[in-house]
Amino acid sequence: MRVVVTGGAGFIGSAVCRQFVLEHGWTVLNYDKLTYAANLRSLDPVQDHPGYRFVQADICDRAALTAALDEFAPDAILHLAAESHVDRSIDAPAEFIRTNVLGTHVLLEAVRRYWTRLPKERRQDFRVVHVSTDEVYGSLGETGYFVETTPYDPRSPYAASKAAADHLARSWYTTYGLPVIISNCSNNYGPYHFPEKLIPLTILNALEEKLLPVYGDGMHVRDWLHVEDHVRALALILTGGRPGEKYNVGGHNERANLQVVQTICDLVDDLLPRPRSRRELITFVADRPGHDRRYAIDPGKVEAELGWSPTLSFEQGLAQTVQWYLNNRWWWEPLRAGVYGGERLGLADA
Ligand SMILES: NC(=O)c1ccc[n+]([C@@H]2O[C@H](COP(=O)([O-])OP(=O)(O)OC[C@H]3O[C@@H](n4cnc5c(N)ncnc54)[C@H](O)[C@@H]3O)[C@@H](O)[C@H]2O)c1
Repeated sequence: MRVVVTGGAGFIGSAVCRQFVLEHGWTVLNYDKLTYAANLRSLDPVQDHPGYRFVQADICDRAALTAALDEFAPDAILHLAAESHVDRSIDAPAEFIRTNVLGTHVLLEAVRRYWTRLPKERRQDFRVVHVSTDEVYGSLGETGYFVETTPYDPRSPYAASKAAADHLARSWYTTYGLPVIISNCSNNYGPYHFPEKLIPLTILNALEEKLLPVYGDGMHVRDWLHVEDHVRALALILTGGRPGEKYNVGGHNERANLQVVQTICDLVDDLLPRPRSRRELITFVADRPGHDRRYAIDPGKVEAELGWSPTLSFEQGLAQTVQWYLNNRWWWEPLRAGVYGGERLGLADA
């Protein structure tokens, strides 16, 4: 199988490249613009593998995308390239509209052109998986779950841009027959996660004994999934998912943000003991504007139809992730010293 992975130098995309190449033996073209969130060091394990290729280009660049498709001749596209941080979407939404909405449109058109020129058999087997988020569904109350038919109700510029992209992706299936499948996944965590997101930021601040910011009252609930389990789901969706369908992917791991931060404190304390618990570093800070209260995924469809289930419990996965950051300072120290030092983003006060 030959797969174009857009955004393959990001957090989830790099896990896709590593797993597809090293575990499935597939040939991957990583198509990535290399924004601030990208890191080619995350691809060290596949860098010299004959099944891995990389092109630095923008998904908004139709000519570059068309050339890459024609030259690589893929059997499938896994579309992950996006601006992905809600706080940055509050400060500067334009780039989210450009990449997530306009970029997805360019991608769908370039892929449609490529797909219509394929011989009949290859055209039938071809797949496009558009990777999206549970944030398109909005905010839940204390009970209930997002299912595939839950109406969209995006509440941040990031979620709105992803929702728009999902609608485009779906309409390219209904209108043109392009075999698109959409996956909507809950919050991912794991190694190689850019340290602007809650879990890696908290781990690194805890390692460096810095203050641990918690937004608002810390009772916002997220449904956590280890990135490797997400990638396993994406491989199944790519090979067994039905075109035109959506699949919700989530780990049955609902945790309040404060609980996640406290657990990280305890894990880091175990590995690097200090006189007083790192929990004393927790600091409540101004809430994110429009902060969604609760996300929770019902993954029943992907479990029943494709036989997927998460392999790691949140406790196992989080302990493994903390240990990874402790062992791999070479990966994150340059990021903390350079592109992002941990400053607060997304207060909408500009
Ligand atoms: N991280 C999560 O918890 C999560 C959960 C569900 C869905 N998703 C979705 O999964 C995808 C990947 O998320 P992530 O956390 O790995 O994001 P990320 O920010 O870590 O990586 C995004 C990658 O896309 C690349 N990119 C950005 N703009 C581009 C452009 N115009 N052209 C080409 N490449 C571009 C970046 O260079 C980067 O390598 C996104 O579509 C996101 O919406 C993420």
